[in-house]
This record gives sequence, structure tokens and C-alpha cells, in this order.
Amino acid sequence: MSTHKKETVVVVGAGLMGTGIAHGFASSGYTTLLVDTQLDSLSKAKGNIEKILNDGVKLGKVTADQAQAAFANLITCADLGEAAIGANWLVETVSEQLAVKKAIVTQAAPLLAPDAIIATNTSALSVTEIAASVPHADRVIGMHFFNPVHKMKLVELVRGLATSDDTVARTRALCDAIGKTSIVVNESPGLTTSRMSAMLGNEAMYMLQEGIASAEDIDTALRMGFNHPMGPLELGDLTGWDTRLSVLRYLHQTLGEKFRPCPLIIKMVAAGRLGRKTGHGVYRYEDGKQVPHSGLRASAL
Ligand SMILES: NC(=O)c1ccc[n+]([C@@H]2O[C@H](COP(=O)([O-])OP(=O)(O)OC[C@H]3O[C@@H](n4cnc5c(N)ncnc54)[C@H](O)[C@@H]3O)[C@@H](O)[C@H]2O)c1
Repeated sequence: MSTHKKETVVVVGAGLMGTGIAHGFASSGYTTLLVDTQLDSLSKAKGNIEKILNDGVKLGKVTADQAQAAFANLITCADLGEAAIGANWLVETVSEQLAVKKAIVTQAAPLLAPDAIIATNTSALSVTEIAASVPHADRVIGMHFFNPVHKMKLVELVRGLATSDDTVARTRALCDAIGKTSIVVNESPGLTTSRMSAMLGNEAMYMLQEGIASAEDIDTALRMGFNHPMGPLELGDLTGWDTRLSVLRYLHQTLGEKFRPCPLIIKMVAAGRLGRKTGHGVYRYEDGKQVPHSGLRASAL
């Protein structure tokens, strides 16, 4: 972790993702302006960043001096118009609404440094469409981080129609500077990660539906056979089958038949068995813990 001052990054949206992203930039020496319209989001984000830094000190990942320097790089601000002036980077990570994201980049673009890059952390909206609202669409890119940002190394960089090679190269260098590994993806539904994860979860559900193996054994296959940290059914329970289903429906609509949602997922969502959040999905949960041998049985389907 370097502590010298580098460029200025404006992170817009101090929610779950903005907190982690701002922590990443501040820890890497960037002057980081974290912007949100909600003052309580800003104070909560500041407290959470302090906690991540303090935990880092306890775990020996950073020294107390480094944590202090990182915290000193962080400025919270409720006024985008003020924060954006002369900044080198803008990373927007506000709620997933196209109109809100467009309004932010439209307001900020004329205020940023002349060669500034605008990045969006959107999970599913079109980078091309967001870029169309600013004069320099070639300097707009998707920077798709993963939750929790301070633990997950990957950033999917998303090329919109107009994103230039120079923008990709500079953003890759930015990812390197904050200790992230980047991959480059052309704008496409589900990018690489959501598309593969949706396919794997859907296939696991088809196998369960067909009685090929028990839920526990399907999950064990992926954990032990491929070193996945979680099985696809456990992961679906964590993500929520309602969320899974809406992603699958979108991929089915945009990419075709191979993403047709498994009928068992539709049935589980209709039954309200959404996963951990409802205490019951493929598995049952008590006090937040998976109940052993509670996996959905083929005989129950
Ligand atoms: N949660 C995830 O796992 C995840 C992963 C990758 C990408 N994303 C994407 O990241 C973005 C943010 O997601 P999140 O989970 O952090 O959401 P969140 O709801 O936790 O945070 C969104 C924040 O944006 C703020 N906001 C809304 N409108 C604003 C405006 N006009 N100006 C300034 N701030 C504004 C809200 O006050 C809130 O604090 C979304 O585009 C989402 O799709 C989320």
C-alpha cells in the first residue's frame, strides 16, 4: 500500500459498493471524494471504511500509520458539483437506475479534468447508453467491482461501443494501482461472471430436478472437485432465487434458449422459498445456519 498522493477520484454513491470502492482508492493513496445525497449514507460509509482499516491493522494487513494515511485521503461530500471539479476519475456506483446514473455523469462531465475518465459500476445497465449522455463517450467505461470490494480481487472492465483503447489501458492501470485484477469484456448481458454463474446455478437446479444427485452432493461436487468456495445451490440460496430468476429471465430473453430458467427455480420462487433471506431455499436455515441434511429431495419435487 502506497501512501503518496496520486490523482483525485470521485466515488458517487456511498452504499455497499461505494464504501468498498472508496476504501480501495483511499488505501492506495488517491485523494478520494465520496459523494452521496444522503448524509446518513456518508457517515455510515465513513464508519465502515474506518472499521475495514482497523480490522486490517488487527489482522496485520496494514500498519496503523498506513490505515491513518488512508483515512486521511478520504473526504465525504454531499455536493457532486463541488467534488467533481478538476477530478481525474469519476466512479459512479449509485442505485441501479439508468436515469439517475445518466444525470450524475451529465452533471459531472463538464467539471472534471479535461482528460478524466468516467467509470460506472453498473451490474446490468448499458455502458453505451450511459456514455451517450456525455460529450466524450470514448472516456466512459464500465468498472464492475465485486462485493465485498475489499476482499474480492476482480474488476470486470466493460467496453461500451465508443470506449477507446486508451481508456481501457488507463483503467487497467488504475485497477493494478489499487491491487485489483482486471479483465476486459465487451458490453454484453451478464458480462462474464453473472452469465457463467447463472448458467451453473440453472444447470445445478436441472440436475436436482432430474434426480441426478442430492443437493448436498451437487454442492460437494463443485466444492471438492473444482475448489469452488461454495456449491451452486448454496450460492443460489445466498443470492436469493428471486434475484437468480430475474437474471435468468433477462439472459433467456437476450441470449436465448440455453438460459431458459429451470422450472424448479420458478416453483421455488412461487413458494416463497427464496433462500437464506426467507429461512428456506434449497436448504433450510435456523439462526442463520444451514440445517444439516435439509437439502431439497428429488422425491419432494
Ligand atoms: N451489491 C452488489 O453486490 C453489487 C455488485 C456489483 C455492482 N453493483 C452495482 O453497484 C451500484 C450500487 O449498488 P449498491 O449495492 O452499493 O447500492 P446501495 O443501495 O447500497 O447504494 C446506493 C447509494 O447511492 C446513493 N444515491 C442514490 N442516488 C444518488 C444520487 N443521485 N447522487 C448520489 N448518491 C445517490 C444512495 O443514497 C445509496 O447510498 C449499482 O449500480 C449496482 O448494480 C452492486
